[in-house]
Amino acid sequence: MNRRSFLSLSTASAAALLATAGMGLAGFFRFLFPGVFYEPARRFKAGYPADFPPGQPVFLPAEKVYLFHDPAKGFSAASAVCTHLGCTVQWSERDRQFNCPCHGSVFAADGAVLRGPAPRPLSWLEVTLSKDGQLQIDKNRPVTDAYHLLVPA
Ligand code: FES
Repeated sequence: MNRRSFLSLSTASAAALLATAGMGLAGFFRFLFPGVFYEPARRFKAGYPADFPPGQPVFLPAEKVYLFHDPAKGFSAASAVCTHLGCTVQWSERDRQFNCPCHGSVFAADGAVLRGPAPRPLSWLEVTLSKDGQLQIDKNRPVTDAYHLLVPA
């Protein structure tokens, strides 16, 4: 082996060594940042009760939740996530029902399935008052459609 081929071989070896070390380092830093999904908080504040006068339900798009205010019963919240494949259902005030635009499921005002393919009713979510007086909805706490939060005027 002459000097030129030795230098060429050692340069290639050094490059391979550096590449291997670089990949190892990249793998090390990859484990410092775990591959998790960061979801929005499951419990959130929707606003003050006075922000939601009785009438049509209010859609909260960031949370995919419909907030209802019945003057006699109080506040209730329904998930807008279709139980078929997760599309966002839309409230029809004319028909007083939820319609899923993806595959045609229809849900009654109480969330019951009127027409499939949705296999289950819409979920109702617990509504409470937070310490600062705002309505707080907890997606981790499902309730029945009979649940309402009555807030004194
Ligand atoms: S996602 Fe709603 S019917 Fe399929």
